[in-house]
Amino acid sequence: MRKLAAGNWKMNGTGASLSEAQALIAAQPSPACEMLLCPPATLVARLADVARGSALMVGGQDCHTNDTGAHTGDISAAMLADAGATSVILGHSERRADHGETDALVHAKALAARKAGLVAIVCIGETLAERDAGTTLDVIAAQMASVPEDSTAAGLVIAYEPVWAIGTGRTPTIDQIAEVHAFLRARLTERIGAAAAGVRLLYGGSVKPSNAGEIFAVPHVDGALVGGASLKAADFGAIVAALSAS
Ligand code: PGA
Repeated sequence: MRKLAAGNWKMNGTGASLSEAQALIAAQPSPACEMLLCPPATLVARLADVARGSALMVGGQDCHTNDTGAHTGDISAAMLADAGATSVILGHSERRADHGETDALVHAKALAARKAGLVAIVCIGETLAERDAGTTLDVIAAQMASVPEDSTAAGLVIAYEPVWAIGTGRTPTIDQIAEVHAFLRARLTERIGAAAAGVRLLYGGSVKPSNAGEIFAVPHVDGALVGGASLKAADFGAIVAALSAS
């Protein structure tokens, strides 16, 4: 399977930020992994223009469940595809927290992404309270409901992002990442069958150049979903290089 380094710019970036993408393309013209940046929706089309003909792919950070309609402020998967996106992040913990997104809604969005030909990057992960209560694996098992049961390996990526590790500089131990990723592969196999073997399982949460190598050595870690460190070409390029070498 081809590994995936995905960057999530969140609500960061204006036209001036496109120079970081240009620098990334120049630094990583042909990485051995897939390289994806998910900018805010305002920049998807412009980033797709910058990335045309390069190894860099472009994704969205969310989509609506419908193709079109009276949904002020929302963006459909078809619109993202039209703007040049090839994938979309769904159910990020910030959307689950800020917008009350449920597993059922994320499931519906994943179907909408598929209909538009986008890869669905479904995010799951426990809170600190859940980790401390010892219920992490139960939470991960329950969040499998976000994943359509007829998903294909090509159409689905799952990002395991412990909520307490996002933007905090804290990361789980290597053993904790290994435990969840092995569990995730097993539960995904129960849910979608043999296709699960080919689904990329990303780790996300405070991934940076200094810890990327050891995280990428963990079994069933097939890449990363990177927030803060994806904003700078030098940092994200170093993570891409680490994944390419793994
Ligand atoms: P972070 O964010 O790398 O800034 O911790 C990860 C994410 O939310 O995808």
